[in-house]
Amino acid sequence: MRTIELEDNQVKLIDQTLLPTEAKFVKCINVEELARAIEEMKIRGAPALGAAAGFGLAITVMNSESTKPEKMLQELKNAAGRIRRTRPTAANLFSALDRVMKTAEQNAASVEELREAVVEAAEAIAEEDIQVNQKMGENGSELIEDGDTILTHCNAGSLACVDYGTALGVVRAAREQGKDVSVIATETRPLCQGARLTTWELQRDDIPVTLITDNMVGRVMSEEKVNRVIVGADRIAANGDVANKIGTYTIAVLANRHEIPFYVATPLSTIDPQTESGGEIEIENRDPKEVTTLAGQELAPKEINVLNPAFDVTPAELITRIITEKGVFKPSEIKSLFD
Ligand code: MRU
Repeated sequence: MRTIELEDNQVKLIDQTLLPTEAKFVKCINVEELARAIEEMKIRGAPALGAAAGFGLAITVMNSESTKPEKMLQELKNAAGRIRRTRPTAANLFSALDRVMKTAEQNAASVEELREAVVEAAEAIAEEDIQVNQKMGENGSELIEDGDTILTHCNAGSLACVDYGTALGVVRAAREQGKDVSVIATETRPLCQGARLTTWELQRDDIPVTLITDNMVGRVMSEEKVNRVIVGADRIAANGDVANKIGTYTIAVLANRHEIPFYVATPLSTIDPQTESGGEIEIENRDPKEVTTLAGQELAPKEINVLNPAFDVTPAELITRIITEKGVFKPSEIKSLFD
């Protein structure tokens, strides 16, 4: 299922805040609407945010009335600035903006040329995401054995990408090869991407999935019900430290304790070689209300102190392998891919 695409000079995306109750597509007619859709998590997941960022620039040029390329370029810069301020952690959002802006600057002889180049670059980011995920699935599925139960956290599926998924792409590829593989999905408080999104997309594909709350992971691992953990990533530092959905670090510690392989499936576009280690990664802090409420219901007394970091950092030493479209690597080997 395609999560996001360009249609009629607008960005069409599935509103993930409504899932699993309603599968509704919404359209963003300008960059402001798109930026709000990102902030409100209608669209989320690092690769999907990369595609959204590219499409945000595409609709800016598609709907621009500028007759001078310099003016259109300035509109693009403003749009990129707005998108940059939405969510700070996912590397793909920034790498997509940089890629499209570089193309724009190199093709600014006329507004026609600029428009065409920007739309083409944005479409390429989205198309490549699907191919990269399929390749990653192929590479990762070699690590999966028939009969495996795989624990995943948050949603690193087609909903987090343009299609197919990263961690869930590996599961899909293993199933396509005829391996009998099932999934344990963590609920992923506070926004419940695991309960709402991972279970929804796996159920649609007839992939067996069992839902647990986040605090059940230790129990489930100690009962030997998990053979492998596969998660996605929002940003990977040069030393192999991985920022991903809050709770990933806890799962990695537990996997280490129970000697369960812990894999991170990620496109190269999520790796940020400029960031030396995980400590330098900016972690988004979100509205405390996400913690104090659940489905609109108050869970805590008013004015209680709350922490709500959206991501955490798993140190490289807890990661068994990083699965990419270029192959499967130890975290320590990641930097050499960019050298
Ligand atoms: O806050 P979200 O829902 O955007 O966080 C998403 C995740 O943490 C995913 O695991 C990550 O982006 C990888 S998606 C292939």
